[in-house]
Amino acid sequence: MNDTGAVLPADSDSGPTSMASAGEAPQEPREPVLSARNLVRGYRMGEQTLEVLAGTHVDLYAGESVAIMGRSGSGKSTLLHSLGLLDRPDSGSLVVHGVETTTLTRSARARLRNKRIGYVFQFYHLIPELSALDNALLPRRIEVGPLRWIGKQKEMREHARALLDELGLSTRMAHKPSQLSGGERQRVAIARALMSEPTLLLCDEPTGNLDERTSEVIADLLFQVSVERSHTLVLVTHDSDLAARADRRFQLHEGKLEAFGA
Ligand SMILES: Nc1ncnc2c1ncn2[C@@H]1O[C@H](COP(=O)(O)OP(=O)(O)OP(=O)(O)O)[C@@H](O)[C@H]1O
Ligand SMILES: [Mg+2]
Repeated sequence: MNDTGAVLPADSDSGPTSMASAGEAPQEPREPVLSARNLVRGYRMGEQTLEVLAGTHVDLYAGESVAIMGRSGSGKSTLLHSLGLLDRPDSGSLVVHGVETTTLTRSARARLRNKRIGYVFQFYHLIPELSALDNALLPRRIEVGPLRWIGKQKEMREHARALLDELGLSTRMAHKPSQLSGGERQRVAIARALMSEPTLLLCDEPTGNLDERTSEVIADLLFQVSVERSHTLVLVTHDSDLAARADRRFQLHEGKLEAFGA
């Protein structure tokens, strides 16, 4: 299960070396924020198991940006769900901030996720009945619970307002998702992900449903907020221009991550 000592293949993410090319980590030797070894994840379909992740390795470092590409169905969302502690791999090791997460209980994983990880989903996942402000607040509200919420509400609302304002939505706080453009919905989803001040921001095709111009604006925002906050930014994308902006690039192929592109 815990294969942290595994010898890595030459083309995998083998730790800090230089910034010179894709696939290489930033220069200073430091502990990864997230370290995945031999992640295996399959889906059981009756008698058969569809093996999607087949021994995936990756180390992610503070402040870097990483793009993950791969054909549709190659398992990018499956991988991101595992890295984001939304799903548990069948085997392998996943260490986040020094904590081996694969042996944690579901609630302990949820606590770690809420504290450290912001997740921007492939299809926004906003609640249609809630305003932009309440959508951004919802995960924190659930995490805090109804009793503590009474005391925390004011501070959290101010935080959510400040984030939505920073993301250019100061005049859209009361809008429901159906009253927002695609780019605005994605900004609400980003604000929601940033509410917990995560160290890891995982984005699953954040520009996949947007036109070219809006995609650029959203990409600019993601890189800007990540640099300002020294997040680790992970972008799953089909867009090679977006991937080219990341510090490192990987292709998910046959269940494994392969570094590519200088
Ligand atoms: N809950 C599930 N049960 C069974 N099979 C699943 C499940 N979720 C995903 N799969 C299968 O696993 C494979 C990987 O799915 P995943 O969503 O991770 O791909 P992806 O690389 O994100 O694709 P896309 O680029 O289209 O978003 C697909 O073939 C999909 O059909
Ligand atoms: Mg996907």
